[in-house]
Amino acid sequence: MTRPSLGAQLGRRRPIGMLVAEAGQGTQGDATLGRHLSMIQLAMISVGATLGTGILALLAEQIPHAGPGIWMSVLLAAIPALLSALSYAEMAGAVPVSGSSYSYAYVTLGEGVAWVVGWCLVLEYGVSVAAVASGAGQYVDETLRIFGLSLPAAIASDPSAEGGVFNLSAFVLVVLAMVFLVRGVREAAWVNTVLVVLKIAVLLFFAAVAFTAFRVDHFAGMFDAFVPGITGAAAVLFFSYIGFDAASTAGEEAREPARDLPRAILLGMGLVTVIYVLVAVAAVGAREASWFADNGLVTVLAEVTGEPWFGVVFSVGALIAFASIVLTVLYGQTRILLTMSRDGLVPRVFGRISRTTRTPVAGTLITGSVIAVAAGIVPLGELANATSIGTFAAFTVVNIAVIVLRVRRPDLPRTYRVPLFPVVPALGALTCVALMTQLSAATWVAFACWMAVGALVYAAYGRRHSRVGALDDAAYRAALAAE
Ligand code: ALA
Repeated sequence: MTRPSLGAQLGRRRPIGMLVAEAGQGTQGDATLGRHLSMIQLAMISVGATLGTGILALLAEQIPHAGPGIWMSVLLAAIPALLSALSYAEMAGAVPVSGSSYSYAYVTLGEGVAWVVGWCLVLEYGVSVAAVASGAGQYVDETLRIFGLSLPAAIASDPSAEGGVFNLSAFVLVVLAMVFLVRGVREAAWVNTVLVVLKIAVLLFFAAVAFTAFRVDHFAGMFDAFVPGITGAAAVLFFSYIGFDAASTAGEEAREPARDLPRAILLGMGLVTVIYVLVAVAAVGAREASWFADNGLVTVLAEVTGEPWFGVVFSVGALIAFASIVLTVLYGQTRILLTMSRDGLVPRVFGRISRTTRTPVAGTLITGSVIAVAAGIVPLGELANATSIGTFAAFTVVNIAVIVLRVRRPDLPRTYRVPLFPVVPALGALTCVALMTQLSAATWVAFACWMAVGALVYAAYGRRHSRVGALDDAAYRAALAAE
């Protein structure tokens, strides 16, 4: 069999009809994923993957820079995220499979871009799970310390910290998430919903306590430092909205994907935006902006109540927040790999679905184990920072995919359409590219190395196993014509 030239293969698209039909049937003679998830559970997956370090730690760090207008930074940061979320909503409604931006790229821009996006998603999902889990270790330690306990240094952190050998908490967190995901998506979604409700409750509790010390004069001069104070903080806080795309990896497990995915993505984004603004207003209402130069949100709780142990609530809340990020993002990673495996770009084992649990058991065990060990021993350093470039790249492509698909397939049924087309997706793409240019040179180098490894993996595997690459020209044209 002759394969197309490399250039031609990289340009080949997956016909949408073929992709959606395969998603419903399973292509490897085994079971399909079970359609169990409701709209609310999908929205909770979105919030689960989103609400974390950004609001718990970065917000307070940015308050001294932005001043009392920090709530405007929170709103400004939501704009680029919302523009891209609208595009995700349209694509998720039109192409309701589990591959998220990777699949959207495949049906619009071809295999080359799809592979690049897929590889970026391994960074956005896989590497960031390991990074988030490593961060959780610190909160386990803080929580234990409140009870006068502490972990021995050797198991408290990876070798990058003094005396550290293995970050046990990070490892255990990923293994637990893996076990839930193997057992079934219903159980995992249920656990995630409980975790998300708890983490939202902790933030609402924080806001309620902080509002008891509210002083209007803390907001004096809040428009003074708009540029660069408020805008600079907004660029940093964009991070806190990353993750809303996780719901779009559940296309094949949603009960009504075309109807519910767009709603869930937008509901999740709306919910986190409201919570973030509330927390920002409550924080500055309780303490002057400059006070946050030396203190975090946790100290607001302790000082306002006069009870140091109120900090426990916050540490436990942080741990819960990390746990649900690990659970939902690991979930997303397994579903993206499953979709890539069905397309022939990663080994088949990632696509095997168990008849008993209706989950990709082998893929979840492999992915989870690799990430758990990485979280335990590998200092991720710059690679973890590079996740934001990968995320921006994926968002940019989804915005472009919306435009391409509207032009190429105006007739395709869509359950949601971005408003003000093409302005919204064009602005979405531009803002993501602009944010990418703000990242440091070291981060770009790490990203370039990651992409080089991706090119080698494609050359060694995807090029030879790709399913659209295996079609001869006539069959490929016929498949596209039948799209
Ligand atoms: N949005 C996620 C967080 O804030 C990445 O931790």
